[in-house]
Amino acid sequence: MAIEQTLSIIKPDAVGQNQIGNIIEYFERDGLSVVAAKMLHLTQEQAVKFYEIHQQRPFFKDLVTFMTSGPVLVMVLEGEDAIAKNRKIMGATDPAKAEKGTIRGDFATSIDQNAVHGSDSKETAKVEIAFFFKPFEITKRVQ
Ligand code: CMP
Repeated sequence: MAIEQTLSIIKPDAVGQNQIGNIIEYFERDGLSVVAAKMLHLTQEQAVKFYEIHQQRPFFKDLVTFMTSGPVLVMVLEGEDAIAKNRKIMGATDPAKAEKGTIRGDFATSIDQNAVHGSDSKETAKVEIAFFFKPFEITKRVQ
C-alpha cells in the first residue's frame, strides 16, 4: 500500500462542541498523521466552490449554510492508504448508518451536521488539498 495524503475537515458542529482534540485522536491512533492544518471560517464563496460538485443536489443550500456557520479545522492527513483509511475512520455519511467507534458514529448528529469531511478518491484528494493549501504549507514528517 502506498503513502497517500487526503483532505480532512472538522466541521462547525464538532468544532463548536470542542471535539477537535478527540477527533484528531481517532486519526492518529489509526496511523494517520497531520502534516498540515489551518483553522478557517469559510466564506459563502469558498463553501460554494469547495462543494460545487453537489451544486444540483437538494441539500446544497443547507450544506453551504452549515459549512459557513462557524469555524472549521482543515487538515492534510498522511499515511498508508490514507484516503480509504480516513473514510473508514469517519464512518458512513449518515450518522444513523455509521458504526459506533467511527467519528460520525460517535460525534455526528445528522447527515447535514456530520462532524467531518474527507476526500473520496485520489483525484478528489489532490484537488481538495490544493484548494486549501499551498505546497509549502504541507510539512514533511521526519518520523
Ligand atoms: P461531506 O462528506 O462533507 O460531503 C457533502 C455533504 O453533504 C455530506 O458530507 C453531508 O454532510 C451533506 N449531505 C446532506 N444530505 C446529503 C445526502 N442526502 N447525501 C450525501 N450528502 C449529504
